[in-house]
Amino acid sequence: MRLVILGTGNMASSHAAHFGAIDGVEIVGAVDLDAERAQRFAQSYDIARTFTSLDEALDWGQFDSVANVTPDRFHFETSMKAIEAGKHVFCEKPLATHYGHAEGMADAAEAAGLVNMVNLTYRNVAELQKFRQLVDEGAIGTIKHVEASYLQSWLVSKAWGDWRTDPTWLWRLSTAHGSNGTLGDIGIHILDFAAFGINAPITSMFCRLKAFDKDPDGQIGDYVLDANDSFTMSLEFGSGALGVVHATRWASGYLNTLRLRAYGDKGGLEVQHGMNGSSLQMCAGEDAEIAHWQDVPVEPVPTNYHRFVEAVHSGVNGDPSFRYAADMQKVLDLGFVSETKRQEIVVG
Ligand SMILES: NC(=O)c1ccc[n+]([C@@H]2O[C@H](COP(=O)([O-])OP(=O)(O)OC[C@H]3O[C@@H](n4cnc5c(N)ncnc54)[C@H](O)[C@@H]3O)[C@@H](O)[C@H]2O)c1
Repeated sequence: MRLVILGTGNMASSHAAHFGAIDGVEIVGAVDLDAERAQRFAQSYDIARTFTSLDEALDWGQFDSVANVTPDRFHFETSMKAIEAGKHVFCEKPLATHYGHAEGMADAAEAAGLVNMVNLTYRNVAELQKFRQLVDEGAIGTIKHVEASYLQSWLVSKAWGDWRTDPTWLWRLSTAHGSNGTLGDIGIHILDFAAFGINAPITSMFCRLKAFDKDPDGQIGDYVLDANDSFTMSLEFGSGALGVVHATRWASGYLNTLRLRAYGDKGGLEVQHGMNGSSLQMCAGEDAEIAHWQDVPVEPVPTNYHRFVEAVHSGVNGDPSFRYAADMQKVLDLGFVSETKRQEIVVG
């Protein structure tokens, strides 16, 4: 597989490290609007060519796949161009900034018969995959109630850099820069964590979103700080289960922590994932009588990067696909409708 990495900012390092370690993958080009950044990146990962636009890379053309690691608002235009040129696309989340674009991307990739996958990173967590397997095997029975949270603290701490001065964080705080705030950025991850974990789609939701005051002017340079910092959602799933899902960038003490708990009529499961690792625990059968939780052992699982490479080799699309991510995008969009109307919304 001959891969070009499009966008060479923070997350691109993860793509280069993961794809670079897979047999049969050659990273043949790095593209960034910022030529110096692209060159630094190419040097770090021993990539032969750099380009300052996707058009330039496509004119050269000697690759079959693109890892799209541009900011959210560029995913649509760049992925559509790559698809038009017949390239397989592994796109960062969220797939687009609204459902219309996400659906268009799924339609185009499917019509062209190209591999199309979205990097919902937490599918790489072996404990989540085991959680899902146990749910499918009926280990906790019929799920009635779900709790999920995604906690970050980069608005309070400088552990990842200062959001007041660093563009990598500032664009995430500004709707004019294509950010849908916490809901678009990490909401997509935690909603996928929950829906994938319990193997049921989201069918209705009531959502609250809030952008808190962070600067006396409400603006830093070009960046108007209007994207939501926190959201809370109450949900119903296709299986009939009820759930609460929330996320924030204000959670002191948690740099990046996801948690999912599901309770069925035979027991409960809890998965946690953070910077210090992951855990999976179950309380079922006799243990349910005494509320005793036991650690569940897990085996390593292939990452999204591995599964994208496998899909390109086999020609059979992998999961999560553009279509799945587009359906999740619809849920995100409806979160804004629910906030505006202060009303429960059915996901049609
Ligand atoms: N899957 C995950 O867990 C995860 C984690 C972090 C970020 N992300 C996603 O990765 C994407 C990138 O995030 P980031 O933190 O790396 O952003 P970033 O701002 O650090 O880097 C983005 C880079 O893309 C470049 N760029 C912008 N438009 C471009 C274009 N049209 N063509 C080529 N290059 C272009 C910018 O110059 C910049 O260097 C976002 O969609 C983000 O949501 C995903």
